[in-house]
Amino acid sequence: MQMVSTLADLRAARLALPGTAGLIPTMGYLHEGHISLARRARAECDSVIASIFVNPAQFAPNEDLAKYPRNLERDLQLLESAGVDLVWTPTPEGMYPPGFSTWVEVEGLTRPLEGAARPGHFRGVTTVVTKLFSAVQPERAYFGQKDAQQAAVIRKMVRDLDFPIEIIVGPTVREADGLAMSSRNAYLNAEERKAATVLFNALSAAQQAYQHGERDGDVLRGILRHVIDLQPLARMQYVSAADYDTLEELQTLTGKTLLSMAVFIGQTRLIDNFVLG
Ligand code: PAF
Repeated sequence: MQMVSTLADLRAARLALPGTAGLIPTMGYLHEGHISLARRARAECDSVIASIFVNPAQFAPNEDLAKYPRNLERDLQLLESAGVDLVWTPTPEGMYPPGFSTWVEVEGLTRPLEGAARPGHFRGVTTVVTKLFSAVQPERAYFGQKDAQQAAVIRKMVRDLDFPIEIIVGPTVREADGLAMSSRNAYLNAEERKAATVLFNALSAAQQAYQHGERDGDVLRGILRHVIDLQPLARMQYVSAADYDTLEELQTLTGKTLLSMAVFIGQTRLIDNFVLG
């Protein structure tokens, strides 16, 4: 496995790789969710490239950029055993040199949910993903369903800007007790870790009601809120039952629906979602 940091080295290494290329963009501190995407890319593409870059542009000043967990050595071992050919670790100065002033922004889909809770977040994501796509020029790029809105926003950006890239979204990988794998789970202490199952439990309760025929958006959002309220260490930021394509809140569920939420467990902000229908 080759490792490069500068854009010039990335371009040279990319040119030398054979056939179709799959890209897995990451912020490092990898878990089974990322690795399952790397394995899938290995099976579907001739060459597999991963990027590791904790992107400052997608963190607000009050967020966790400085303490975001990092372990490059372990990440490289995991990527190598998943069969990755090339790892790109850009630097913040390389990605955003002095005077950088060009941004990519998807309108509409970025307004609700994570967009409302984290102003500027998606502008940072779409800008860095554009730069990663433009440098790597992959045929396919792999993202996780845990960040459902991010996947929808990137799909929209790829359509709107005519990137010749297939976006592949892999399923959320969960711990045995249902907690969705996330690099941010590393922030949780033992007590918080137990409490963090409340996201999965709330989604499961709403899903069960849906399976018994409940189609009222307010009732389903109420179930999510109720389960979260019962957990003393949890503080809800939002719960949502939205149209899967438009992300607009639903009064009545008719087609494919995204149930999603953001919840603070202590100081740690976690998100999760289920797709219904
Ligand atoms: O999902 C992530 O880890 C990040 O948002 C991404 C897509 C790598 C962009 O920085």
